[in-house]
Amino acid sequence: MADATSNLPAVNRQWLINGNPRGRALEVSDFKQQEVALTPLADGEIRVRVEYLSFDPSQKGQMENVSGYASGNELGDIMNASGIGEVVESRHARINVGDKVLGRLGWQEFAVMPAAAAQVVPNDTFLTARLGPLGGTGLTAYFGLFRIGRPEPGDTVVVSGAAGAVGSIVGQMAKIMGCRTVGIAGGAEKCAWLVEELGYDAAVDYKNERVKSQLRELCPDGIDVFFDNVGGSILNDALACIANHARVVVCGGIARYEQASLPPGPANYFNIVFRQATMQGFLLTAYEKEFAHAQQRIMRWIDGGQVVFKEDVQHGFENIPATLLRLFSGANFGKQLLKL
Ligand SMILES: NC(=O)c1ccc[n+]([C@@H]2O[C@H](COP(=O)([O-])OP(=O)(O)OC[C@H]3O[C@@H](n4cnc5c(N)ncnc54)[C@H](OP(=O)(O)O)[C@@H]3O)[C@@H](O)[C@H]2O)c1
Repeated sequence: MADATSNLPAVNRQWLINGNPRGRALEVSDFKQQEVALTPLADGEIRVRVEYLSFDPSQKGQMENVSGYASGNELGDIMNASGIGEVVESRHARINVGDKVLGRLGWQEFAVMPAAAAQVVPNDTFLTARLGPLGGTGLTAYFGLFRIGRPEPGDTVVVSGAAGAVGSIVGQMAKIMGCRTVGIAGGAEKCAWLVEELGYDAAVDYKNERVKSQLRELCPDGIDVFFDNVGGSILNDALACIANHARVVVCGGIARYEQASLPPGPANYFNIVFRQATMQGFLLTAYEKEFAHAQQRIMRWIDGGQVVFKEDVQHGFENIPATLLRLFSGANFGKQLLKL
């Protein structure tokens, strides 16, 4: 147990939820700043100086108070977020000042939490990777691909949102399985990265190319696994190109996260009948008991150079809300993080 309060500022800056973006695009004005005095810790609590925040499209869903996936924030709450920080004060025997911890730290400079809610992590070169490929992002790719997509060597695996945090890992895991991979992403730079750095066999630039005709050309025997992060017209185009017994993995649907009304279902859904295919969603939380094993495998792939990753690190407390907006414009390139 230790107390280093003498080096701390008197106040903690926080970003609170100030608007409900349901049915519209997220805006910076959906958040407002607050300053509060640092208060003494209770027994069993720690104070963490927030160093890195992780950004995920589902954070918009949290603000909309949807039940189930990504539920849970009210107007006036501190915006919830995973992050990594350094313990600056501890009233718990297990956690020491100077430890790096991972937890739901929120959009603020200092987080106070029960020690049980914090995971001590090694302060090594993989520190921030624990918010990306070694954290929820990599685990989403892993369980979505292997449990729902069930790829076989030689399968053609197509990934939407392929240059994003989850999608960039999915394609590399499918490659490890001996699959052919095609990524769909926005813009020439992201598509070049998919092929040149991540080993995708081909890429489709959905902003400048016709997705359906490109997929037909690049997947002449059809798509065996479609890992979808996007939904909307990209899902519809992929459904037109699935092979017999294809598996469509519904991981996310960012194309609809900012729409005013829910779009109609994909017109090509009946191809699931003709192709005797399956289309299944999943939530990462269902696999919690298996996280440790999956993380070990992902770590080995990273160590062996079979999985590489990109971090997009923005900077500064003031820029936190604008950084979340980057996910919805496609400005992020790789896992979106912010360093305070
Ligand atoms: N099921 C689960 O348990 C689970 C867990 C975690 C995440 N997810 C989901 O996984 C998906 C990917 O998350 P992530 O953290 O890896 O985010 P991300 O892919 O790093 O960032 C979002 C990307 O989506 C693309 N995008 C944004 N608006 C789009 C639109 N209208 N149409 C097509 N593409 C659009 C952009 O890439 P481009 O530049 O290529 O357009 C952007 O970079 C999200 O849908 C998320 O909700 C699901």
